Amino acid sequence: MRKKLSNLDPARLSGRVALVRADFNVPTENGRITDDGRIRASLPTLRMLSDAGARTVVMSHMGRPKGRPEPKYTLAPVAERLEELLGRPVEFVPEPVGPSVEAAVRDLSDGGVLLLENTRYLPGDTGNDPELAGAWASLADLFVYDAFGTAHRAHASTSGLAEAVIERGGEAVVGMLLDRELRFLNDALRDPERPFIGILGGAKMSGKIPVISALLRKVDRLLIGGAMANTFFRALGLDTGASLVEEDRVDMARELIREAENQLVLPLDCIVADEVAADARTRVVDREAVGPDDRIMDIGPRTRAHYAALVGEARTIVWNGPMGVFEMPPFAEGTMSIAHAVAEACDDGALGIVGGGDSGAAAERAGVADRISHISTGGGASLDLLAGEVLPGVASLTPASVSQEEI
Ligand code: 3PG
Repeated sequence: MRKKLSNLDPARLSGRVALVRADFNVPTENGRITDDGRIRASLPTLRMLSDAGARTVVMSHMGRPKGRPEPKYTLAPVAERLEELLGRPVEFVPEPVGPSVEAAVRDLSDGGVLLLENTRYLPGDTGNDPELAGAWASLADLFVYDAFGTAHRAHASTSGLAEAVIERGGEAVVGMLLDRELRFLNDALRDPERPFIGILGGAKMSGKIPVISALLRKVDRLLIGGAMANTFFRALGLDTGASLVEEDRVDMARELIREAENQLVLPLDCIVADEVAADARTRVVDREAVGPDDRIMDIGPRTRAHYAALVGEARTIVWNGPMGVFEMPPFAEGTMSIAHAVAEACDDGALGIVGGGDSGAAAERAGVADRISHISTGGGASLDLLAGEVLPGVASLTPASVSQEEI
């Protein structure tokens, strides 16, 4: 149970400096933001604070600069986009910490918003340096944690900062975006309406073993797609040709198949190609008929129909990871068919939750994003939460008093 921004009295916020950790790690191409979903998702918190007259200082990382400024990771374009979306001025401070930041915070008017430069321009952020966390904490006695996508990282700008603010007698609270994420993802796992279907895809199973094990304890069926399925095929003794297989995970896959009995559902057929290219020659083959030179690139039509039928019966669905190389049109149909099936189930009243990153982008591309109950802004964070792990960015926040709602 953590204290929430929505439970604070807005009258207490006027004139107060609020430090907000957002996740503005958005994709860019030549300095242009190609998907502003994470910026839009931060608006409820920022509007609430600004409307209440708080002096709001927003901070975020972008990309993985190696602890020093790298122009391609500047947050300057984010400040511009945020200003457009908020419809009010956003001042950009081209430093993440230091005297220029302190001066800008001093000059900030009530209701004003400023954005600091990329926190990862400093090595102390990912190093969780207590001195750096203390420098940020000295700016404000209210810290609003809204970076769900980074909540699985114990960095100076996440849990380190929350702890430093609390240590100095301030409060570290759950922002609106984080609140919504935790509500959807926790509720789905705590008391799901059944049938509960999990769908996992993506290239690798290695990072997803904890989530596969955790979901197998909760779901009625777990549908597998993406190159991850190839490792399971090998565990079944099937030929996977020239496909991507994690050899060191085959034993683990065999063990999971044995434990899961008929809960684990694997593709029946596949789209194979002779190369990973948008103009590659493709064929549909049963999973038992993959040739020595074939590369498995997507689930096949029988699998699409089978998975769509299972999703159609579900009352709760959690989906993370594409079914194939959906960026290339010949291998996109499996992922698109899942996106449509989840949207249709939601139209019929099911709860559909899509993990961030690729599957969220796929739902957008399929044109069904607004029909899905919740598309998470977190990739790794949503997987860790589904795996039942404690997120340091959440655990470090101020505990709620008993009268407040549980989170
Ligand atoms: C993400 O995009 O998953 C988050 O912003 C975290 O980024 P990271 O994996 O570089 O810590």
